[in-house]
Amino acid sequence: MSIRQELKARSRARHEDTEALFWGDAGFADAQAYARYLRAMAHVHGSLGLAAAALRGDLAETRHHRDALVALSRDLGQALPAVSPRSLASESEAWGVSYALLGSCLGAQVLSRSLSTLPWGAAAATTYLAHAGGFAKSGALKQFFGALDAAAPDAEQATQGAHLVFDTLSEAALAGRAAAKTGEMAQ
Ligand code: HEM
Repeated sequence: MSIRQELKARSRARHEDTEALFWGDAGFADAQAYARYLRAMAHVHGSLGLAAAALRGDLAETRHHRDALVALSRDLGQALPAVSPRSLASESEAWGVSYALLGSCLGAQVLSRSLSTLPWGAAAATTYLAHAGGFAKSGALKQFFGALDAAAPDAEQATQGAHLVFDTLSEAALAGRAAAKTGEMAQ
């Protein structure tokens, strides 16, 4: 089994949990849920993606995360809060972080299609999803998966990196939901 296949299998449950937290059964519940997703993605691109790309000295990936942050800021219509880069334990862990973040581009088209079917979704800003979908379609993601398999990082540490991305996103989803509830109650 290639390391990419192994990471996919090992993080499947985390992917499902994270997807359910943001997306539910039929897509983003409303514009606020979509914005919570975008904010959480901004947090992980800034704190984990840039750190992983820097640790591996991957300038193209650094550019990918920076472009993602610009797109996210545009879609959210506001400057993004500064986030501190997380320190990663090893290059293998960094590969796992990059796997989760770059691999997420594979789901971007599904998210875009689903948005276009929702009554509020047609007006949603989708620069980030277009950036992610474009990355997947351009061949750059395939190239990354090839480099990942060739580098053959330690599977345990890489899995830890992938899990770190999903767990950080899940925490952000729960915090975002709690904040939205508090806001509702205060009204
Ligand atoms: C929010 C709702 C999400 C949906 C509906 C979704 C959907 C999908 C779909 C349909 C695929 C497979 C596409 C294909 O094989 O052509 C995929 C792959 C993937 N997604 Fe997601 N995704 C979501 C969120 C995320 C998030 C937040 C992450 C992590 C940042 C993520 C990480 C991944 C990874 C790593 C893969 C590639 C697995 C592989 O083939 O190795 N996804 N996603």
